[in-house]
Amino acid sequence: MSVTVLVGAQWGDEGKGKVSCYLARQANIVARYSGGNNAGHTVVVDGQTFKLHLVPSGIFYPETLAILGSGMVIDPAAFIEELSTLQAAGYPCKNVRISPLAHLVLPYHHEIDKLQEKSRGAKALGTTRKGIGPAYADKAERIGIRLGDLLDEVKFREKFLYNMEIKRSRYRDLNGAVNPNEILDSYKRYAEVIFPMVTDTSKLLQEAIAKKQKILCEGAQGTMLDVDFGTYPYVTSSATTAGGVASGLGIPPQSVTEVLGVTKAYTTRVGEGVFPTEETGKIGEFLREQGGEYGTTTGRARRCGWLDGLVLKYGARLNGYSGLILTKLDVLSGLEEVKFCEAYEYKKERLDDFPIEMGIFAAAAPVYRSFPGWKEDITKAKKISDLPKSCRNYLAFIEEYTGVPISHISIGADRDDMIVA
Ligand code: IMP
Repeated sequence: MSVTVLVGAQWGDEGKGKVSCYLARQANIVARYSGGNNAGHTVVVDGQTFKLHLVPSGIFYPETLAILGSGMVIDPAAFIEELSTLQAAGYPCKNVRISPLAHLVLPYHHEIDKLQEKSRGAKALGTTRKGIGPAYADKAERIGIRLGDLLDEVKFREKFLYNMEIKRSRYRDLNGAVNPNEILDSYKRYAEVIFPMVTDTSKLLQEAIAKKQKILCEGAQGTMLDVDFGTYPYVTSSATTAGGVASGLGIPPQSVTEVLGVTKAYTTRVGEGVFPTEETGKIGEFLREQGGEYGTTTGRARRCGWLDGLVLKYGARLNGYSGLILTKLDVLSGLEEVKFCEAYEYKKERLDDFPIEMGIFAAAAPVYRSFPGWKEDITKAKKISDLPKSCRNYLAFIEEYTGVPISHISIGADRDDMIVA
């Protein structure tokens, strides 16, 4: 039996989509456990680029089931559009299954997300404006509408109209922005498309575990965006860490056999929030341009900086990484010097661990260890020994510092540009 969890080790956008697509080849099931179409995975398959937001990467293998789990929030319009793109590219998507317990994202969630961001003024979170926070808020308030409700027209209508009433009383600016009859009509159409894919995915996964099948749990966003352990309030609204797998898929925690942390060879962040190793000058620009660091979901330029070791160590403790997958190592080629944040300095004291007190984090300055860079193009490397010595030194230090072995290194955009360590 093997249940492998793939977790973002930073603030999202670590390249989990590509890694998931690579590992999915050996899996019977690939399952997403949290988030919605705030996530964006760019995957290159046989030279074709796909931008996935909701559908797990198992979709590219017809024999592999692609599951959208109960911990997710699903915007049916975005989901159906994604399926259509995949179908047009020759992937029939007959292998998709969705939990009826997942919550729906409705057009009023988008509007509320925008209104909330506007009202936050200078304290805006920089959300993706996909309605994710408001949909999870409804779930916690126990007024959310689940995907299963969509399949019963009468029930859906009743719950929807009740919600509209509540939303209108709370958000006067919502009036006019959302048309109830249009929504009811379009959601009826979505229900017809989605209906054949809905099943008890938790039971399906439990049965697969009993049959000792291989399951890949695909994380979205990253550890530092976890609603509990991330850089709150600059986080997303779901459990992004490995702990979210059990609740987001409905499988026992002890069924997880392996947790792989995916990290870039440097750091990026979109949206607001403290980012100690951010480089706003030439280095940041170099990383952004070489790494194509523009958001898959929003197109926003990502903030870029050096790899933060404290974040990796914190994630290793929270998630229990059995291995690290380092992505975009090729982006660092050409730099004279590569820096790694090995501690923070706060009030003239050295911190060796990530501080969970956000006030300390906000005032902390990075303490760097410097490594000589390398000039060579590494995109054709097949094994670790093909990499330049200075590059290998950087990797060895990451392993020593985090105490976690690097299991894979990604050196290009294509699914197969991967070195297995
Ligand atoms: P929300 O998830 O749209 O509510 O946005 C909350 C924060 O999480 C914002 O800073 C977003 O930029 C960030 N975020 C959400 N999803 C992703 C992702 O997939 N990658 C990177 N950042 C994300």
